[in-house]
Amino acid sequence: MNYPEFNVSVPVVFGRGAIAALGERVKELGCKKALCVYEKGVEGAGISDKALASLKAAGVEYATFNGVISDPTDAVVDAAAAAAKAAGADVFIGIGGGSSMDTAKAAAIAFETGKAAKEFILARPITINIKTPVVLVPTTAGTGSEVTAVAIISIPEVNGKWSVFTNTTLAVLDPELTFTLPKRETANTGLDALAHATEAMTTINHNIHSDLFGEAATRKIAKWLKIAYSEPSNTEARTEMMLAANFAGFAFNNPITHVGHASADAFSVKFHTPHGYNCAISLPEALALVAPELPGQAKLIAEALGIKLNGSESGEKLGALIADNIRQLMRDVEIKSLKELGYSRSDITALAHEVAQNHLSDFSPVKITDEVAEALLGRIYDTYQ
Ligand SMILES: [Fe+2]
Repeated sequence: MNYPEFNVSVPVVFGRGAIAALGERVKELGCKKALCVYEKGVEGAGISDKALASLKAAGVEYATFNGVISDPTDAVVDAAAAAAKAAGADVFIGIGGGSSMDTAKAAAIAFETGKAAKEFILARPITINIKTPVVLVPTTAGTGSEVTAVAIISIPEVNGKWSVFTNTTLAVLDPELTFTLPKRETANTGLDALAHATEAMTTINHNIHSDLFGEAATRKIAKWLKIAYSEPSNTEARTEMMLAANFAGFAFNNPITHVGHASADAFSVKFHTPHGYNCAISLPEALALVAPELPGQAKLIAEALGIKLNGSESGEKLGALIADNIRQLMRDVEIKSLKELGYSRSDITALAHEVAQNHLSDFSPVKITDEVAEALLGRIYDTYQ
């Protein structure tokens, strides 16, 4: 028999200024030298300096790798693993958005196993448990990667994004690290978190645990994303959004996501548009597609979004209401349409086969054939203009 599996084993240190505790917590793990993995934007915002200062204060030696890029590739992972080897590191610290944290996770596997990233990432779906500690410090309120087992890595030679699953050690969640996040990234990453929460609640593997965290995340995002977007220094909004993204990470860790993220992956590979944007643009129609199959779940999401219901709505009606609500939120945070970005309808529908073939589509309660995917992509294009 199949029983749902809840995995909430990652400790989370949370609070304004929590980055100051990073060094002591790493020291408690018994680690001597850290490799800090991040992107240049994190460095430019002065965030990596805060992490390094905390390590220094605790007497933990460190080396740095600042070569993370958006949609990190296997070559970036291999370079980070080589940097750890050269430095004699015994712990990885990923600091940044999903790209930095996923690079740290995958690099720790490459470091410990001695394998090239491509070798183990292409052997999907695969879980590789490791002994090397991995500490994760998010600097956006979106990915939730600090508490999920998954690392998503691009393999350019097969033109795709692939997943590897592993264990991590600790998350340090400091809302102050998001205070300088630009408005566009605030909007994109916040909607990515909403996609994690609501897709998790509507995969074939949704469960009471994903409902609990998914609902809480959805309520917070519905209330606070617009405020975090329009008032970037609103401390309460930043704190609530960081918690929301973290809760959404817990929500999707086991049930994963479905066709919204499958579409987003196809857009990422083809257009290199940001993951959060791709998830946002795909989400309303992805939820409208599956709502008739899971009307009870759709009702939970609609209520969490604050939609007034009379209790007699069909799954189809609930799906339409949810899609309208999310599209309004997207307008509120000035998400551009695919047309505004210069893509034609046929650019989008041409990705149907990739969407249908993506492993995330297997978690959709509606079977995603090429035809279903093509119709979905057409609606994604048409309904948000
Ligand atoms: Fe995502």
